[in-house]
Amino acid sequence: MSSGANAMWGGRFGRGPEAIMEAINASIGFDKRLAPQDIAGSRAHAAMLATCGIITKSDAEAIDTGLQQVLAEIEAGEFAFSAALEDIHMNVENRLREIIGTPAGRLHTARSRNDQVAVDFRLWVREQCDTAIAAITALMQAFVAQAEAGADWVMPGFTHLQTAQPVTWGHHMLAYVEMLARDRGRFMDARARMNECPLGAAALAGTSFAIDRHMTAAALGFDRPTANSLDSVSDRDFALEYLAAASICALHLSRFAEELVIWSSAQFRFVRLSDGFSTGSSIMPQKRNPDAAELLRAKIGRILGANIALMTVMKGLALTYSKDMQEDKEQVFDAADTLVLSLEVMAGMVRDMTANRDALEAAASSGFSTATDLADWLVRALGLPFREAHHVTGALVKMAEDQGCDLPDLTLAQMQSVHHDITDAVFGVLGVYNSVASRTSHGGTAPDNVRAQVARWKEELG
Ligand code: ARG
Repeated sequence: MSSGANAMWGGRFGRGPEAIMEAINASIGFDKRLAPQDIAGSRAHAAMLATCGIITKSDAEAIDTGLQQVLAEIEAGEFAFSAALEDIHMNVENRLREIIGTPAGRLHTARSRNDQVAVDFRLWVREQCDTAIAAITALMQAFVAQAEAGADWVMPGFTHLQTAQPVTWGHHMLAYVEMLARDRGRFMDARARMNECPLGAAALAGTSFAIDRHMTAAALGFDRPTANSLDSVSDRDFALEYLAAASICALHLSRFAEELVIWSSAQFRFVRLSDGFSTGSSIMPQKRNPDAAELLRAKIGRILGANIALMTVMKGLALTYSKDMQEDKEQVFDAADTLVLSLEVMAGMVRDMTANRDALEAAASSGFSTATDLADWLVRALGLPFREAHHVTGALVKMAEDQGCDLPDLTLAQMQSVHHDITDAVFGVLGVYNSVASRTSHGGTAPDNVRAQVARWKEELG
């Protein structure tokens, strides 16, 4: 081989690549994270080649032992990665050759880096689905614990960030449990769909060797081999689905993060974040900043960015593999790291935060939050059409507003000046506790509903 040409594919090349070419071409700087998956894939492939009589048992054994040594070296941090060898696949194979000699050259029979990277990356993303599912479950448990503690605490429910109707703290916490349950479901669905093994598709067209793709698929924990070799090497849907699920999940985290930023402010004081998840200011001694919540609110940017970036890489790519696809990994790696960190930080914050019941109750009672209860009472008790009841209630709200008081503070006489049939039974629906207790419709905010949902989730989440 002449002057620096690549040992893996340099047979027809007169010289090695420009340094700048190596800089753009090499992926070893990031795809070394795929080493465990790459070695698992190669071990399964070698074992299959031997079983099918394509290589000898002794070569397969040498390959297997050698690959285990390579993995041990990588895990011990003793492996010298080389950019000249481009990527993890060639780095591993080259080291295998150094360790076991000739049999190493037989490992790549009936295989290409195209199906190799496809299987490595699928294994990696599949594992990340499991990690995300576990982290989401832990966060759901933290929200359920908050819901259980405050099943009947009242707080304002908002629309347009304006006080709308009183709700229970538990109900608000469980709203996030529902969102996270859908997130979990998306990762589960994606995992089930991606669990097909592309190994054996070879470069793009399959192979003339009599391989057993079912054997490698089973060895690597896949449900079955993929059905079409062209699709196998050109597909990155599994990564896109992971990123889409991660984006929606991160979006949910950013919404609660925003609520925490608002709620922990001196103006709201709905929650106190623990010292462990707050920071001080170097100049203003009174400050307790919700930095973790703010960062979680922002982290979605990286994950959504990764989703868009990979969509953009894949769009318009003619079948099958193109080197563009090497740009898939860094995006997914960063998004996955960010997602796990975000889920864990959010779980810590939710576990540690303390709701300020008095502030929640005071806020729930202000802003005429039981106006709807009053209108509903006029419909139920006086038989008014809802539109008229709405109008009467509006007049009562205006009266209270003019007098600088709240609805329950109006006297019966004042109320009757707006509608003479009103009786003092109306006061039974005006308090915030009455209001939330009455909302027993399916999915409503009543404490009894919250307790039933908490029991359901505890059962489901274990
Ligand atoms: N490093 C490459 C990637 O990540 C591996 C596949 C290379 N295949 C090829 N035909 N050059 O996509």
